Amino acid sequence: WIAGAIGSAIAYLFGSLPTGYLAGKLLRGIDIREHGSRSTGATNVLRTLGKWPALVVLLVDVLKGAAAIVFARWFYRWLSTSPTVTPTALDLETWIAWAVCLAGLAALLGHSLSIWLNFTGGKSAATGLGVLLAMSWPVGLGAAIAFGVVLAASRIVSLSSIMAALTAIALVCGLEQPLPYRLLVIAGGIYVIVRHRANIQRLLAGTEPRFGQFSPEPG
Ligand code: G3P
Repeated sequence: WIAGAIGSAIAYLFGSLPTGYLAGKLLRGIDIREHGSRSTGATNVLRTLGKWPALVVLLVDVLKGAAAIVFARWFYRWLSTSPTVTPTALDLETWIAWAVCLAGLAALLGHSLSIWLNFTGGKSAATGLGVLLAMSWPVGLGAAIAFGVVLAASRIVSLSSIMAALTAIALVCGLEQPLPYRLLVIAGGIYVIVRHRANIQRLLAGTEPRFGQFSPEPG
């Protein structure tokens, strides 16, 4: 469990990297959490800072989610080679799958409850995509396609993120995936949807802005 705690803490730190916040501070000297939806995610960077900063933030946020998973796999494989580590009853691959589950959840929490931002942040959709792609690329690809299709049809990013999360849950349940991966995607997907609760309220009220439109009220 010590290995699990260390691996998750490092994955949390990967997720915590406050990309959108740094972009606001470095490019315009502003706190992005005081603008638009108050989220530090790429969508709010797009409406507050523009296309190129948003693209960089999106890329780094996806990469940090993927990095948390790649790190967790490497860390547990490396630990398993150490003679000082007591072997567990689980075989190595099962052990690593559970490590991936914990690291993925920790990275999602890190992005939205960043230690560097007083436990605020974004909605973990981009970081979640990175986690999915590194965990199981077909699940990640399916979620990304769902995102793209809903975005093209609706031009609403939050709705696209929610549909991508639901698609990932459906795929991980439908495809042959280890139990820890299923738990990661179900818990992580529900978490991402809950983080969009203010967006859901605006969607229901018909006031959620479309891609490139004026900022929403705080939430
Ligand atoms: O990933 C976040 C996106 O789905 C919504 O962002 O800023 O419009 O709340 P925002």
